[in-house]
Amino acid sequence: MITNIAILASGNGSNAENIARHFMSSPKVKVALILTNSQKAYALKRSRDLGIPCAYFSKEFWQDGQAILSLLRSYQIGFVVLAGFLAKIPDIILQAYPQRMVNIHPSLLPLHGGKGMYGDRVHEDVLRCGDKESGITIHYTSEVYDAGQIIAQYHCEVKPDDTPDTLATRVHALEYEYYPRVIEGLIMKL
Ligand code: GRF
Repeated sequence: MITNIAILASGNGSNAENIARHFMSSPKVKVALILTNSQKAYALKRSRDLGIPCAYFSKEFWQDGQAILSLLRSYQIGFVVLAGFLAKIPDIILQAYPQRMVNIHPSLLPLHGGKGMYGDRVHEDVLRCGDKESGITIHYTSEVYDAGQIIAQYHCEVKPDDTPDTLATRVHALEYEYYPRVIEGLIMKL
């Protein structure tokens, strides 16, 4: 049986594309839908180029959740992946996907997480605090930002001459390498 994934992305969508490409030849997992809360998300262009159905929903829809849940059901989505998604997930969607919805955060949670901590702000905070290492955290999604049960963490060095950009590049490399594999492992265990 094939598991259909939906990916939620608000911006660039490089993780969404990487995950979609990872599963393109998989007989067991298919990225069936990409959803966004931003009309400007480059993730929309990526999904069109990849031939993956995509949809934008405005804030009101993300607050209510019902129409989005109906769409997820109509695509028979069995697993939801957040990849740079910045809106809050409605409770009815969280409840529909217990242990079947994951997020990635570009630091070693609980460090540098929580509301408002995304993108370069995270890397700036890591550098400001003088951390010697950073990395990624893959965790289940919960009602509280970045507070769901941790599934996996991968570390990288923070170099003395790092800028937010150079650190982001190192962290992104970890995301591309590990996020698809962790998702695959979780789906195989369902
Ligand atoms: C990633 O660093 C991810 O960890 C965070 O948002 C970023 C999204 O990047 N949640 P992209 O849109 O996948 O390029």
